[in-house]
Formats: sequence, C-alpha cells, structure tokens
Amino acid sequence: MSADFQLKQTNNGLELVWLTGPKAIKPLSLDFRVGKAGYRAVHSSLKSESLIKALGITGKRKPRVLDATAGLARDALMVAAFGSSVDLIERHPLVRALLRDAINRGRAGTDKIADCCERMQLLDFQHVNQVPAQQYDVVYLDPMYPKSGKQRAQVKKDMQMFQQLVGADEDADELLDPALQAAKYRVVVKRPDHADFLGQREPNTQIISKKHRFDVYIKQGFEQL
Ligand SMILES: C[S@@+](CC[C@H](N)C(=O)[O-])C[C@H]1O[C@@H](n2cnc3c(N)ncnc32)[C@H](O)[C@@H]1O
Repeated sequence: MSADFQLKQTNNGLELVWLTGPKAIKPLSLDFRVGKAGYRAVHSSLKSESLIKALGITGKRKPRVLDATAGLARDALMVAAFGSSVDLIERHPLVRALLRDAINRGRAGTDKIADCCERMQLLDFQHVNQVPAQQYDVVYLDPMYPKSGKQRAQVKKDMQMFQQLVGADEDADELLDPALQAAKYRVVVKRPDHADFLGQREPNTQIISKKHRFDVYIKQGFEQL
C-alpha cells in the first residue's frame, strides 16, 4: 500500500523508502547511468536484444513506441538506446514521480544516456485506453505476472519492494484491446516463459529469450514505415 512508502529528496535525486519493510531493504533510487540497465543501454547490440527484435527496431527502422506499463523503465531505456522514441505510461503515482525525476536527471549531460532520456517522455495518461487510435507504431506491455513461492524467494531485494508497491496487476488482461487500438503495426507483450497468453489471446508470433518470451500481435507489416 502507498501509505507504507515515502518519497525522499536526496542529493542524488528522489528515493523511495519502504517504511514498514525489512530493514535490509535499502531505499530505491532510479539512476539510468548506474546498474545493469544503464550498462545494457550503452553496450548492447541489436543482435542480442530479443526485446528490440520483437518491437521491430532495426538499424534503419525506428518505430515510435508506447511503453504502456513503464515500471522502472529499464525496457524503455533499451528502446531509446536503439534510437526509437518511447512514450511512457505508468499508473502508480510514486513510480511516476521516480520516473519523472530519473528522466530529468538523465537528460543532463552529453552522454548516450542523456540522448536516450531525450527520446523518453512520461505521459500524464494513466492507462493505454486514454490513447487515441493508431497513435503509436508499436505498443509494448509488460504487466506484473504473479510469481510462485519459489520465484518469490528469488526476487532481488529492490524488486521485492517494487512488487510490494505496485501489486500484482491482476487487471492485466484488460490492456490488450486498448493497446491494439493505440498501435498501428503491432503490440508486443513480455511474459515469463511458463505464463499463459495475455487475455488468453494467441499471438501471431513469439520471440523467446533466456528468461522471458515476447508475444507479438501483428496488425500490419512494417512496409509503410
Ligand atoms: C513489471 S512492471 C514493468 C517493468 C518495466 N518493463 C521495466 O523495464 O522496468 C509493470 C508496471 O506496469 C504498471 N502498470 C500495470 N498495469 C498498468 C496499467 N493498466 N496502466 C499503467 N501502468 C500499469 C505497474 O504499476 C508497474 O509499474
């Protein structure tokens, strides 16, 4: 519950504190220049990124992407790193505040992360059903998926805090139809390998990576892009 969490302004930007959580869990801060996500954004190659393949981003083609379940924007950062512009929707107000702060701090500077953050824009919308039809080339969805007991135990500490904050996204099935409306070419859904299809709807194709799969719902080919 949000009452268990508090945002704190520090010299390094906003931090999210879990007031009632285990002592071992440190405040969560979001800085695109540090950690695995920042490293991947700077060093990954097109060939190795299943997400980028699933979205249809290539050396020449840079579809305009809407990330309608932005979370901590690790995926959105990757999308921006490969040259697409990416608009973000996130419904949780505390996560939105962290994102806004991290994007603004990220824009300061002249490095690749600053370029990425220039291509990332946090929208005021709180659900993809507020987006006009065919507004984006591609819509990306990565709602939370309920974890089994063993998986829960393996979740890293900062992610435990994030999951406690945003909950299980039990209404995730309701995202697919409006996402298909908002997209011109395709919708891509990230799922754990064992998960059922979003809304029980079979995708047109899938891209399987080590930890996840990307279910791709194609509306039309990219020929006109
Ligand atoms: C698994 S996280 C996304 C992680 C993200 N892909 C990343 O790379 O950091 C899912 C996020 O989607 C948000 N979310 C879930 N359903 C949503 C909805 N209907 N509209 C907007 N945001 C939603 C949740 O609050 C949560 O922050």
